[in-house]
Order: sequence, then structure tokens, then C-alpha cells
Amino acid sequence: MPNFQTHTLKPLTYPCAYGDTYFECEAISAKNNKLVVASTKGERYLLRVSHKEGNRLLVKGDKVTRPSQVSILQKVLMDFRDVSEAIEICSNIEPKRALHVTRSPYLKTIDFFASSFEVTREIWVEVGFGSGRHLLHQAKKHPHIQFIGIEIHKPSIEQVLKQCELQNIENILVLDYDARLFMEFLPSNCVGKIFVHFPVPWDKKPHRRVMSQSFIDEAMRVLNQSGQLELRTDSPRYFEFSFGEMMKLSKVNVHVKKNEALEITSKYEDRWLRMEKDIYDVTLINETLSPLIPRVETLQFSKEIDFPKFCSLFREETVRGDGFFVHFEELYLIDISNGLIRISFGANERNEKCYLWVKEGHVSYFPNTVLATQSNIQADKLIKEWIDGLCN
Ligand SMILES: C[S@@+](CC[C@H](N)C(=O)[O-])C[C@H]1O[C@@H](n2cnc3c(N)ncnc32)[C@H](O)[C@@H]1O
Repeated sequence: MPNFQTHTLKPLTYPCAYGDTYFECEAISAKNNKLVVASTKGERYLLRVSHKEGNRLLVKGDKVTRPSQVSILQKVLMDFRDVSEAIEICSNIEPKRALHVTRSPYLKTIDFFASSFEVTREIWVEVGFGSGRHLLHQAKKHPHIQFIGIEIHKPSIEQVLKQCELQNIENILVLDYDARLFMEFLPSNCVGKIFVHFPVPWDKKPHRRVMSQSFIDEAMRVLNQSGQLELRTDSPRYFEFSFGEMMKLSKVNVHVKKNEALEITSKYEDRWLRMEKDIYDVTLINETLSPLIPRVETLQFSKEIDFPKFCSLFREETVRGDGFFVHFEELYLIDISNGLIRISFGANERNEKCYLWVKEGHVSYFPNTVLATQSNIQADKLIKEWIDGLCN
């Protein structure tokens, strides 16, 4: 991720603007780490300034505000470097070619799927599309279908968005998000196909696999009657595991094939074919109509907190629930009534990081609203109990 190192940063008077970036405020922790809240092109970023050996300051984007395009964060860091009159010791923020920071209309955030996405036609989903060969091929072949491609690897996302633009493909929405949690955001019975092609096998850490009982349950809910969940893998263990999980359903229609050729092969598949590996397909066909579910809502804080008291009692701590934890990591002060608390929460297989932003006693999640998924509801409860325990 983009970052730079320097020995000095000129203090800024907030708020201020420089280049395309608006710098809102900064917050400082007891460890003397600094956060700078910045925004540009409708996106908000947190920059972290931390101390390194040799009197160096490392400036980088905080992971909680992952940019939709790395080039946007590069530009924010360049503006911060220039407004702070920093002299770089080392850096990877100056791009080789001119910065192209336009945002693709086809790149969507999870908030879009939580609040604005409307189903107007049949949906097909591809999980972990990688180079995008299969996704692009299917989208061109089926222009009447709305495709949703989910991927966490930014270069793959940018490559597919570029291809959509070059080839005028308008029926793909791309989402940078963990596919294991995505299905919760789709209405029931609206998906015709879900492709999971050559997922990371995670043979030593099977709990990290995309395919799991909860993923299969949610897939069955969103699939329409006769909709299909298609796994294609070169890993015999992944194949057996997934087949086993599908067989746990009380009633199933599963088809298995070995070494079936598809119209299009991905880069991974080409590699396995050269190595003469076997390829397994497992297709689960949904036959039932699922009940409709309400849209996922957002989690809010209703109670105000006594921030000065909270600050005097704050300590780094991990609180555990049933198979679950919340880690209160670091408190950053903006001033006596305002500050940010860095937290991470989740179960073993997936952790979320975010901040609690306290403004004059009122608490909210930052950078985004936290969506009321099943796991987040548990975390939210623990967070509120911990804050109540500290303040009362
Ligand atoms: C082995 S590659 C296969 C890519 C592509 N399907 C193909 O056949 O060439 C697996 C892809 O899944 C993506 N991925 C892994 N875990 C994911 C997750 N939880 N959510 C979304 N994508 C994920 C990875 O970034 C990677 O691009």
C-alpha cells in the first residue's frame, strides 16, 4: 500500500485544503501515533503517522479506509506530503504514469448493496474472479443478466473494470469485499448462478475457505428455483469438503463432474491443465423458494458517553464473547470532547477493523456505518456493554 517516510512534518491548522484534498482534523494517541482525517472525490481516508527507528515518521493510509482505487490514496498522500512540507526519505506514492483517478461507475461499495441496490433482472455472481476471463466471457454472452463480481485483489479489480470500459460491458457490478459475507446483502430467490472457480484451497486452514455451511445456506437462500451454485476446483480436498458440506443439507440435488471442459479457461485452469491435474466440478441446484428477508440495517449508538471519564479509564483490552472477540486497541484524542478509538472485532476466520468516533459525547462507527450482519450484531452488543461498563 502507498506510504512515505520523512523526518519532519510541518504542523497543520485544521481544517485546511490542499490540491484535491480536504484535511479535516487530526487525533493523537498516548503512544504519540497520529491520525489525519482527509477526504477527496467523495471518499474519506484516515492517514496514520507512526514513529519508526532513526527518527523517521511513516505516513500511510489506515487499513480501515481501504481506497476504492489505490491511485486516489496516492494522491491524498502526495497532497499531505506537500502541505506538510515533508521531505521524503523513501516513498512509493509518486506514480510512474500520470494519475488517473476517475472512479468507475461499475465499482460498487457494500453500502450500495446494503442500501440502494435494486433487483431488476436475474443476477449471476462470480466469487474471486481473478483475471476476470470467465466473468467477462459470461457477461458478454448473457447481456440480459446482471453480473456481480466479488474480489479482494485490487489489481484484478482494476483489470476487470478496465476491460469493462474497453469492451463496453455494462452488465457487471464489481465489489471489493469478502465474498463469505456478501450473500447476506442480496434478497432471496434472485440469483440464477453463483460461480466459485478455483477458490484458494486453504488446505491447512479450512475455516478460511469461501465454501462453508453458512455460505452454502445463504447461497441456497439467494438462488432462485433451479438456480445453481457451481464450484470448480483442482483441489481434491476442497472438492470433498464442499461436497460433504452440501450433503449436510436435508434435501439436495448435487451433480459432480471430473475433467469437464468449459468454453473458457482461466489462467489458473491453464496452469493446472498444463500440469495434467484433475479438475472437479460440483453443482448444487436449488429447488426451493426461500422466505423473503428484510434489508440488512445499520448499527447505531443511541446513548451518549461521558468522554472525559471514558478517556481517563480507557485501557487496551480484548473482550471475548462466544467464539467472538472485540479488541479495543488505541485511543486517539482530537480534543477534550472528541476522539477516535481503534477497535478490531470478529471471529477467528475474519476480523474487521474500524474506529468509534466520539463527537461531543455522541458515538458513531467510522469510516462507515457498520452493517447489521449476524456477526456484527454480536460485536456491537459487546462494544456497547464495554463502553457502559467503563462509563457507569
Ligand atoms: C486462485 S484465484 C482464482 C481466480 C479465478 N477464479 C480463476 O479461476 O482464475 C482465487 C481468487 O479468489 C480471491 N479471493 C480469495 N478469497 C476471497 C474472498 N473471501 N472474497 C472474494 N475473493 C476472494 C483471490 O483474491 C483470488 O483472486
